[in-house]
Amino acid sequence: MFNVAVFVSGRGSNLRSLFEKVRKDQINICAVISDKKNCGAVEFAQQNSITVFFVDSNVESYSLLIKELLKLSIDLIVLAGFLKKIPDELVDAFENKIINIHPALLPSFGGKGMYGMNVHKAVFESSAKWSGATVHFVNKIYDEGLIIAQRVVDISNVSSPDEIAQKVLNVEHELLPFVVQKISESKVVLKNNRVYVVD
Ligand code: GRF
Repeated sequence: MFNVAVFVSGRGSNLRSLFEKVRKDQINICAVISDKKNCGAVEFAQQNSITVFFVDSNVESYSLLIKELLKLSIDLIVLAGFLKKIPDELVDAFENKIINIHPALLPSFGGKGMYGMNVHKAVFESSAKWSGATVHFVNKIYDEGLIIAQRVVDISNVSSPDEIAQKVLNVEHELLPFVVQKISESKVVLKNNRVYVVD
């Protein structure tokens, strides 16, 4: 089994799509980690008997969490709407084993403060004609790890940031399970500082 831990802070629609779309005989979502006690994602985890861990921002909390994740033999950490910065200690403990989904086409519209609707407002105000979703490895700098895969959406005719958010969310729900499935099958390959997704 390929063991996955999902970090969340909110509604949990990506957690839900992962849970529903990956192959259950190969992938086990065995832990959900949240910095919020009450949110849709935590509720979903509890309803589906997934172990939930809560973290606050102190070092001790993350040190304990790392121990728990190692005990569970976690193969991959997925950040799905987790709003806090991941501490360096966790990045070091799970090198190239943490991925994030970002609701825009990195390297544009990323970095500190670029989350949720802030991203879609910035994209809308830029008058860009395309947006999309990016799944990337997590390193120690916000939204700067190597890009694994992207999906684009045509936003040339949208009339609000909300409309962009909805279009992007739809492709997020396809892209994240696709990438997690590929990683579990060792079909995501790092070579010469690029990432290749192979058949
Ligand atoms: C998604 O748009 C994701 O890209 C971003 O935060 C949002 C989380 O949504 N990082 P949900 O909690 O998965 O519904």
